[in-house]
Amino acid sequence: MKAITGIGIFVVVGLLTAYTVGFQPNLKEQLPYDDEQRGLKDQITIKFSHVVAENTPKGLAADYFSKLVKEMSHDRVEIQVYPNGMLYTENTEVAALRRGDIQMMAPSFSTMSAINPAWLAMDLPFAFENQDEVEQTLNGALGEKLFDTLKPFGLKGVAFWFNGFKQLTSSTKPLRTLNDFHNVKFRIQPSPVIERQFQALGASTSIIPFNEAYHNLAVGNVSGQENTISNIVSKKLYQVQRYMTISNHGYLGYAVVFNKNFWDSLPPDIQEILSEALRKTTEWTNHEAVKHEEDLIFLQKNNSIQIDYLSEEVHKQWKDESKAIYEEFAPKIGRDLMKYIPGP
Ligand code: SIN
Repeated sequence: MKAITGIGIFVVVGLLTAYTVGFQPNLKEQLPYDDEQRGLKDQITIKFSHVVAENTPKGLAADYFSKLVKEMSHDRVEIQVYPNGMLYTENTEVAALRRGDIQMMAPSFSTMSAINPAWLAMDLPFAFENQDEVEQTLNGALGEKLFDTLKPFGLKGVAFWFNGFKQLTSSTKPLRTLNDFHNVKFRIQPSPVIERQFQALGASTSIIPFNEAYHNLAVGNVSGQENTISNIVSKKLYQVQRYMTISNHGYLGYAVVFNKNFWDSLPPDIQEILSEALRKTTEWTNHEAVKHEEDLIFLQKNNSIQIDYLSEEVHKQWKDESKAIYEEFAPKIGRDLMKYIPGP
C-alpha cells in the first residue's frame, strides 16, 4: 500500500514539475512590451574617461556635455564620465579608446603626441602670447591638420577644450632666475618637448601620471612641476609645494576625441545631437576655463605657497633661449605645421 502511495506522489510531483518547467508558455514572450523596455534596448552608452578632477575645466566640461546630451537626446544617449584616471591613466587611455573599451576621451596635447609627434607643436615653450592666439591657431588650419593626423589611428577629433597657461611650482626654492632651475627635478607629462624645455635649463624630469603627481611631490621623488592654476588647486598640489612662479611659459589644452568606428556607427540624428552638444559645451567651457581668478585668489589667501611673478627680463631671456628647442623639434613636428605657431 505504502509503495503505491509513494509511486502516486512521485508521479504527481513529476507531472507538476514538467508542467511548470516544460509546458508553460515562454514567460518572456508573455511580458507586455512597453516603452521603457524599448528605451533600454535602444539606449546608447558612451564611456568618457579623463584624468583630472571633476571641478577642473575639463571635468566640468565633461559633466556639462553629459547632461546636455541626456537632455537633447531625451535619454537616448548616456555619457558615462569616469574622472581622475579611475578607469585609465594617460599611459593607457589612448589604447583603450582605439580598442573601443571607451568611446570618448579628452587627453592633453602632450598625451596626444604619443599618437603623432605633430601634437608636440602645442607643447613648445612660449608658443602663444595669450588665449586669443591659442584659439585662433587651433580653430584654424593647425587644428584641422592635427585632427587629420588621428585618422590613420581610427580616431576622430571633434573639438578643442582649453585649460590655460602653465605655471611653475617647487618645494625647494623659488624659481625666479634661469639658474634657479638647476638641479630641480620636475614631474612632467609625457612629452619630449617638455622634457627638453627643462633639461635646457639644467633641470631633470620624471614622467608621472597626473593622479600620481601629488604623492610623488609629497614624498620628494620630484621637487617641482608645471601646471595650470586650476589643476594646482583642484589636485591640491599647493599643499606639497612651497613656491609658485607665474610664468605663463606653456599652454595646457585638450583634444576631444572619439573612436572613429563607434562614431561612424551612430545614427545620423545622434551624430547631430552630439555635434551640437559638443559645440555648446566647447563654447561654454572655453569661456569658463580661462577664468582663473578665483583659484589664484584662493592661492594668494592660502599662506602655504609663496607666489612670485617671472620678471620681464627673465621672461625674455627664457623666451630667447627657447628658440633652440623650436629648431631642434621642427623636423619631428614638421616645418609645415611649425609655421602656424606664433612662437617666442
Ligand atoms: C590634464 O589636465 O589632463 C593633465 C595635466 C597634467 O598631467 O599635468
